[in-house]
Amino acid sequence: MVSDPAQIREVLVTQAASFGRAFQTRNIARVLGQGVLTNEGKAWSSRRRHIASALYGPALDNMTARTEVAAAQMLERLDTAAAAGAPVSPSEVTALVAQSVIADTLFGQAFSDAVAARLVQMVRDAAVAVRTCNIALLQLPQWLPIARHRQIAAIRHAFDAEVAGAIAAAAPGALVTTIAALKDPDSGAPISASNLIDEIKTLLVAGFETTSSALAWSLLLLGADPEAQALLYDAVASDDPEPVVRAIVQESLRLYPPIYAIPREVRAPVTIGGHPLRVGQVVLVSVFGAHRDPALWAEPDCFRPQRFLGTDWPRAAWLPFGGGARSCLGAEFAITELTRLLILLGRRYRFSADRAAIANPAAERAFISLTPAPEVLLHVERRP
Ligand code: HEM
Repeated sequence: MVSDPAQIREVLVTQAASFGRAFQTRNIARVLGQGVLTNEGKAWSSRRRHIASALYGPALDNMTARTEVAAAQMLERLDTAAAAGAPVSPSEVTALVAQSVIADTLFGQAFSDAVAARLVQMVRDAAVAVRTCNIALLQLPQWLPIARHRQIAAIRHAFDAEVAGAIAAAAPGALVTTIAALKDPDSGAPISASNLIDEIKTLLVAGFETTSSALAWSLLLLGADPEAQALLYDAVASDDPEPVVRAIVQESLRLYPPIYAIPREVRAPVTIGGHPLRVGQVVLVSVFGAHRDPALWAEPDCFRPQRFLGTDWPRAAWLPFGGGARSCLGAEFAITELTRLLILLGRRYRFSADRAAIANPAAERAFISLTPAPEVLLHVERRP
């Protein structure tokens, strides 16, 4: 386990050539296949370049322009809860908008309610199944027909069929059509149908659960902290809310990084922080550990968005999106999405949540991403 920023940099950046994807990522590949998250080598580098340019061009502008449309279902749900005075489970509500944003980005249209519900459930089932494989004492060969392998194969089969249907129904000009036009850099052959499905599943999964968790934590943290909430209200009433709201997003990602640990497998003998490592060993980069280190952050367990307003914060110790060549391809997309959504929500609602309930370790569910437990509730009121 590595949580010192200098050693993290060695693993993710300076000595990255000595590391590869670990068994946890191979377990994810059982569901996602060979996409940009799971691939390595040449297949990965050329895909990464193409997908990055597709995500940061019109896709980002489109998402920014359509935040309100994508948020419609979530706002309806929150309005109903506010009118009834009933609390909501934040991750259930934020899942509605996170799936809608990624569906709109990839396919140029929202999913029907039935497809959305099936896909959200599949991503969650896949996360639980992969986690079961990750914590198994023995990493058994994938071909062994044991129950958890059969379950993963069934999820993958259903997921592939659902995504193939969504690709076929995509609107012209949607991100999926840009990715479908990718060519192999050597042979010039177009991307195969199954490779395309793998890339789209990857973006759906990578972009959905993480963003949904991040927004849920932001709402809970704001709800439990009237001072930080006042900061949000002042910001959304101003001409330029973005810097402050971005700082709120950054601080939420610091306290509850959805990807709380990043695994790497040693592929060539290497020394990290003076410790020699053997080929085959797995190193876990503890994002959570670096984010809560009292030697690096003042009052590390407190929600203080202001710390990100200046330039005086330890950049090397903030890594919710990883680092180096394999850092998150959707980082700017996610921060922009979360900032837009918090501005929208801050203009419309007041939130409250129980600070003690959030600080309790039982508030966290850590499957693939760190998510608030469904029992941790958020109260919502419409602002005048
Ligand atoms: C708050 C939201 C998000 C968080 C916290 C997050 C976090 C991460 C992290 C830590 C990694 C690096 C994993 C590693 O080094 O092994 C990663 C990779 C990745 N993320 Fe994100 N992510 C988020 C949103 C998104 C979005 C919205 C997309 C796409 C629409 C996305 C697409 C990807 C992809 C494709 C990779 C693999 C990159 C590669 O291996 O080359 N992520 N993400």
